Amino acid sequence: MREGTPSQTAIATAYLRALHVAVGDTPYVFEDAAAAAYLPVYQRDYLRWLADMAERWRGVYRPRRHAASNVGSQVLVRARYAEDALEAAVRRGCKRYVILGAGLDTYAERHVDDAAPLPVIEIDHPATQEWKRATLIDNGQTKPPALTYRSVDFERMPLEGALDDFDAPQFISWLGTTYYLTRSAIATTLSELSEHSAPGSELVLDYWRESRLPGVNPMFQWAARMGMALLPEPLRSFFDPQEMEQMATNAGWHVREHCAPVIQNARYLARRADGLRVPSFAFLLHLEKTAMDSSEVTR
Ligand SMILES: C[S@@+](CC[C@H](N)C(=O)[O-])C[C@H]1O[C@@H](n2cnc3c(N)ncnc32)[C@H](O)[C@@H]1O
Repeated sequence: MREGTPSQTAIATAYLRALHVAVGDTPYVFEDAAAAAYLPVYQRDYLRWLADMAERWRGVYRPRRHAASNVGSQVLVRARYAEDALEAAVRRGCKRYVILGAGLDTYAERHVDDAAPLPVIEIDHPATQEWKRATLIDNGQTKPPALTYRSVDFERMPLEGALDDFDAPQFISWLGTTYYLTRSAIATTLSELSEHSAPGSELVLDYWRESRLPGVNPMFQWAARMGMALLPEPLRSFFDPQEMEQMATNAGWHVREHCAPVIQNARYLARRADGLRVPSFAFLLHLEKTAMDSSEVTR
């Protein structure tokens, strides 16, 4: 991320969630009607125009699937997967929701009227979080009482201070973020999350699989990597599934479910007329902290 600049990818993923609600097919994969409020005015106007056109031409014209469809599907499915897992975890006794790399996540806003709202901690880069808080104020909205903001740069500051010890099990999501971080920042964060989580806690994260394309010129693959590294928010880490599992278990987590794209498609996108599909490199990992001796944790 550029120093002092809010994450543009956080705005992009909020846009994709809002776009789905504006013009997507029902039933929605993930319904985030609160995301649009955080978008710049021109994007909100554009979404309104799109929704109006979709309504007028319903049944006559169907927009072609566009290149962003698969990226959008991934954003929707990972959010749905995490919140489905959260709901089940709360039934099992999780008492707090920690959202790492929260970006423009709106869980707290969408649950403000719950009878007993779950305490939520959003942890994000200071630049993104300051911008999000300022936008909330500009919109005349107030922070949901159950929500606390804590800022951290995963590359520079340990989580210590952002995450206090919590006696009860907590649920953590870490979505859309690992690919922007170095391997060492991911490993350190996983260990710190484990240290600050009581047994019974759960963590859902997503990551992108290392893709070596058979038959593609290695020079081309190297050039593609260089291109990714030069993006405003450079893509830094990709994993083989076994490597990601190993990193998580070394940090003290146990795998509850490793969800490959084929499973995500079957679970959330089957039989949809819009043909949404998760890209083949987008994996989800659901971890849990079981009671174990801390000496078992390897670093
Ligand atoms: C693509 S957004 C994901 C937002 C949201 N979780 C989602 O799924 O749509 C990536 C998030 O990672 C955060 N991020 C990237 N690098 C970071 C770092 N070094 N420290 C803390 N947060 C970081 C950004 O601020 C941004 O909110």
